[in-house]
Amino acid sequence: MSQNFAQLCLDGQTYTLPIVEGTAGEKAIDIRNLLKETGYITLDSGYMNTGSCTSAITYLDGAQGILNYRGYAIEDLAENCQFIEVAYLILNGDLPNFGELEQFKRDMKRFALIHEDMIHFFDHFPPNASPMSILSTMVGSLHNYYPEMDDEEDPYGGITVTTARLLSKIRTIAAFSYKKSIGHPLVYPNAKLNYCQNFLNMMFDRPNMPYVIKPEVASALNKLLILHADHEQNCSTSTVRLVGSAGVNLYASISAGVNALWGPLHGGANQAVLEMLELIYADDCNYDKYIKKAKNKEDSFRLSGFGHRVYKTFDPRARIIKKACHEVLETLDIQDPLLDVALELERRVKNDDYFQTRNLYPNVDFYSGIIYRAIGIPTNMFTVMFALGRLPGWIAQWREMKEDKVNSRIGRPRQIYTGLTLRPFLPMHER
Ligand code: SDX
Repeated sequence: MSQNFAQLCLDGQTYTLPIVEGTAGEKAIDIRNLLKETGYITLDSGYMNTGSCTSAITYLDGAQGILNYRGYAIEDLAENCQFIEVAYLILNGDLPNFGELEQFKRDMKRFALIHEDMIHFFDHFPPNASPMSILSTMVGSLHNYYPEMDDEEDPYGGITVTTARLLSKIRTIAAFSYKKSIGHPLVYPNAKLNYCQNFLNMMFDRPNMPYVIKPEVASALNKLLILHADHEQNCSTSTVRLVGSAGVNLYASISAGVNALWGPLHGGANQAVLEMLELIYADDCNYDKYIKKAKNKEDSFRLSGFGHRVYKTFDPRARIIKKACHEVLETLDIQDPLLDVALELERRVKNDDYFQTRNLYPNVDFYSGIIYRAIGIPTNMFTVMFALGRLPGWIAQWREMKEDKVNSRIGRPRQIYTGLTLRPFLPMHER
């Protein structure tokens, strides 16, 4: 606890509030006893100024554009690691040694299949079903088939196994939902392939046209998943924590996170960015028209992929993804006009006072879709890809919340009531 403190003068009384200081120097006024001591609550719509928890998983600095997982810079992790190494780091606090990684890889292989009965679920979604609605349904349903969650003594149960099971199965569910949506035969997980190769193979291999896994494609996917792996208390992670705080099982908590991520203001932005770029491209690249719309308060149109609640400079992930965009398109010899549209839009936004004064820069979603598209992933699955990447973070945050026996209680924010005060009941004939 810091030696510093805050003083609050209320109704002629002075209250002293302790200060909490994090390991990176972030400071908070601890108001956990405010209501009990003062009778006041705080009001902070959108939690712009409110910390919901302490966490040792991810540190980000919005002013400097810094993002670290468990103390490692994402630039180092994205450059040097496999996604499941980073997943292990986020979940367990340290990068795995060789033996730990081999065991984690064995778990990924062991748990890659889903119960055959679950495959029938896909037959009953409408053809145009959103892959995010399918994902949240299937993830929530895993509890019915793999209920062992709490018995840590059981070597075949407990949260460690459930974590590996969920990490591996979400990849299979995503690929199977795609194959079902295009009427192609399912491609089952291949134990000889690593996490990313397996996903690509399940997505694109066909009996009549074997899919060749290009190392550059697998590497680009690996990098994207790492960059999405956690991001402290964003909307979907806070949802996973809040739902989990009620004692809900992990699968149902993650399913809630998938639904929160679906929103176009959050993870759904990567799909919205591609649709926006296509709109601008189809409209003769009339950038000025869409920039004007984005600035017009009367118009609900916003430039998807720009702006961020925390980053007030370039999102460090966007910087890495933008570079990877050029590399992937060059390696695959793809000329994607939408990349040119994205680059020109970013250039114009960068030179526009409206966006600069509001610190609106490209975020993680602005360039990621260009890579997914180059890989062959359909636009309506972009947010599913975000969920695959974010899963280790969601699980780690859920477990951190569960393990914090001092502070973890059911999440239940308060409110300030602004409705009608008590009034006498009116019988029907008097209304
Ligand atoms: C993610 O939180 C996380 O960490 C999320 C995430 C993660 O990894 O989990 O990083 C992933 O969700 C990234 C964000 C993806 N969303 C988008 O790209 C959607 C477009 N962006 C905006 O909707 C917006 O910037 C948000 C939602 C991202 C942030 O919203 P805030 O923090 O509530 O900011 P705001 O809406 O109050 O905007 C401040 C000003 C407003 O103008 P004024 O009222 O000051 O005049 O900036 C304007 C806004 O109108 N503004 C935009 C804009 N974003 C903000 N104007 C045009 N286009 C935009 N994209």
